[in-house]
Amino acid sequence: MTGLLIAGASPYGEEPADILVVDGVIAALGPDAARDERAADGEIVDAAGLVVLPGLVDLHAHLREPGREDAETVATGSAAAALGGYTAVFAMPNTDPTADTAGVVEQVFRLGEQAGLVDVHPIGAVTVGRRGERLAELAAMATSAARVRVFSDDGDCVSDPLLMRRALEYVKAFDGVIAQHAQEPRLTQGAQMHEGEVSARLGLTGWPAVAEEAIIARDTLLADHVGSRLHVCHLSTAGSVQIVAAAKQRGTRVTAEVTPHHLLLTDSSAEGYDPVFKVNPPLRTPADIEVLRAALASGVIDIVATDHAPHASQDKETEWDNASPGMLGLQTALSVVIATMVEPGLLDWRGVARVMAEAPARIGGLDDQGRPIAVGEPANLVLVDPAARWTVRGEDFASLSRNTPYEGMELPGRVVGTYLRGRCTASAGVVAGVQV
Ligand code: DOR
Ligand code: ZN
Repeated sequence: MTGLLIAGASPYGEEPADILVVDGVIAALGPDAARDERAADGEIVDAAGLVVLPGLVDLHAHLREPGREDAETVATGSAAAALGGYTAVFAMPNTDPTADTAGVVEQVFRLGEQAGLVDVHPIGAVTVGRRGERLAELAAMATSAARVRVFSDDGDCVSDPLLMRRALEYVKAFDGVIAQHAQEPRLTQGAQMHEGEVSARLGLTGWPAVAEEAIIARDTLLADHVGSRLHVCHLSTAGSVQIVAAAKQRGTRVTAEVTPHHLLLTDSSAEGYDPVFKVNPPLRTPADIEVLRAALASGVIDIVATDHAPHASQDKETEWDNASPGMLGLQTALSVVIATMVEPGLLDWRGVARVMAEAPARIGGLDDQGRPIAVGEPANLVLVDPAARWTVRGEDFASLSRNTPYEGMELPGRVVGTYLRGRCTASAGVVAGVQV
């Protein structure tokens, strides 16, 4: 039996160590690995100077299939994910048809298996058609081949408090979680960007922070009442951080995510009216960013999730009011986290592993992802060159869409290789043998 020897990489940026992978599992680690006879005639990857982390796990991505295969497919989204260092991705259900039945979630799950680049875990819709009227068949999705554990109407809020209560009650039976897109619809009718000084100047209808905070306050109280798990998607305001912190303090079963774009970009980006910066929830203020970064460092915010939202050019390259909200994220997330959290000293590599792999796997109920780099664990790994810098070119992305807000920006840190159960899925910008 031959193995794969990843030689000289630094697990979590610490002391360099050799890693021997046999049959998709870490078989030896450290000085023993290179001496192991199974390393003798296997492949050797020279990883000196590279950091090795657990393969990244994205709890929030839009892969658009079925229905909008012109914007993204499960296969192209999987390729973008592998290139971004991910080994597992959760796919949001705002597809056409909506992923609100066992049939559709199984379809997405199988497409993920066929692409074979990352583990694709469908998220099920909370309500039928995401219309917020009645609960979807959550148990049927949970017991399907896709074994759905995360449910969300993302793109829209489950705004009816009774439906939200029932959903929380329902998923308790199988330790599922409701991932809420926190947006009070009445407070955000026609909203185009963060409500503040910039929106007033630009004459765009504002999306006030309180529209997010009111729902998070309500839902943490409902989660207390029901004793169930709530996950808050894409936290974007300082006030939301306060509410989640207070809930955690009193023992609420709540977790929260922040996106890379909410850690880096502000509402001033809207000044050129370029819809590539239109996103929901909207980009906020520098003061919000500071609080979000601190909360991610302290653990009040548990994870980084991309909210990768590909849009075809006809939906995005139009006037601001009519453009679809959302931005690409999978191929830039790690670099943006390095720029916003690692370089300023807010997170070390252990911290990056925690917020981008370990915690998202735990929240999503995966027991074979986000695992420690240790003997006996599945070899889901990402090699990162921490010294590299690169310039973002949307046209080079594996994604079918081009709506990156980082076009032309130089970012730190480069994914050099991604391994799914010991198999290389992306290497130096090339995915599974195909140049993209
Ligand atoms: O900006 C966004 N885009 N926010 C969402 O909640 C949905 C997403 C999409 O599906 O494009
Ligand atoms: Zn959302």
